[in-house]
Amino acid sequence: MKGWLKIASRTLQKAPRTADEFDKLPKHVAIIMDGNGRWAQKHKLSVSKGHRQGTETLREIIRHTDDLGIGSLSLYAFSTENWNRSEEEVSALMQLMLDFFHSEIDELDAKNVRILILGDKGRLPEKQRETLLEAERRTGSNTGLRLNIAINYGGRAELVKAVQEIATLVKNGTITAGEITEETVANHLYTAGQPDVDFLIRTSGEQRLSNFLLYQCAYAEFAFPETLWPDFTVHDYDQALEAFSHRQRRFGGR
Ligand code: FPP
Repeated sequence: MKGWLKIASRTLQKAPRTADEFDKLPKHVAIIMDGNGRWAQKHKLSVSKGHRQGTETLREIIRHTDDLGIGSLSLYAFSTENWNRSEEEVSALMQLMLDFFHSEIDELDAKNVRILILGDKGRLPEKQRETLLEAERRTGSNTGLRLNIAINYGGRAELVKAVQEIATLVKNGTITAGEITEETVANHLYTAGQPDVDFLIRTSGEQRLSNFLLYQCAYAEFAFPETLWPDFTVHDYDQALEAFSHRQRRFGGR
C-alpha cells in the first residue's frame, strides 16, 4: 500500500490528514459480506461458525471505517431471500445479531456512531426487533459514522415502499404527480438524508448486486475482491479504498 492511505491507516487517526486526502475517500461505502459459507466449508466447520468469524471481520471493518472518518457504511447482513436458508442457519444468524448488538452497542454509542437498520423489522423475532429498535433509539441523535445494517432487506421492496408512500402523498394532495423528483424518491428510502453509495465492495469474487441498495448505487464504483469475508482484513479494505481513490468518476459526463 502506498500514499496517503498508508499514513491514515498506520496512525489510525480519526481521519486522513488533509482536505485533499479526505476528498479521495468515498463518503458512503456499501459492503456485501459474502463467503462465510465457503470459508466454513474450507475449514470443515459449520456454516454458523463461518458467520461467527464473519462477525469478527464486521467489527474490525466498522472500527476502521470510523477511524478513517468515512461518513456512511452500509452492510448487507440478511436479505429477504435469506429466510430460505435452513432453520438452523437462520437462527444462528439471528443469535449473532443479538450478540453483536449487545456486545458492541456501548462502544458504538461512545464513538458517536448512529445506527440505522435498513429493511422491514416486522418479520423479525420480537427479541431481535426490540434490540434493533433500541440500538436505533439509543444512537439516534449521534452525529458520527452512519452505520446502516441491512436486515430483512431487499432493494426492490425498499423501492415499492417508497412508491407506496409517495402515492399516498399524491392521493391526499400533499404533492402532485408532476412534482415527484429523484430527490422525492431518495427521501423515501431507508437511507434518506445520506449520500448515494460511492463505493460498493463484495467479497468472495461474486460479481452481483443481489438486490442491495439498487437506487443508491446508480453511480457507485465496484470492487470484487476474491477474499472470503471472514478472511477480509483491514489491509484488504485499505487496498480497495486506495484503488477507489484512483478511479475516474464521470457521472455520465466527460
Ligand atoms: C453471506 O455469506 C453472508 C451472509 C448471508 C450473512 C452475513 C452476516 C454476518 C457477517 C454476520 C451477522 C450480522 C450481524 C449484524 C452481526 P454466505 O453464507 O452466503 O457465503 P457463501 O456464499 O460462501 O455460502
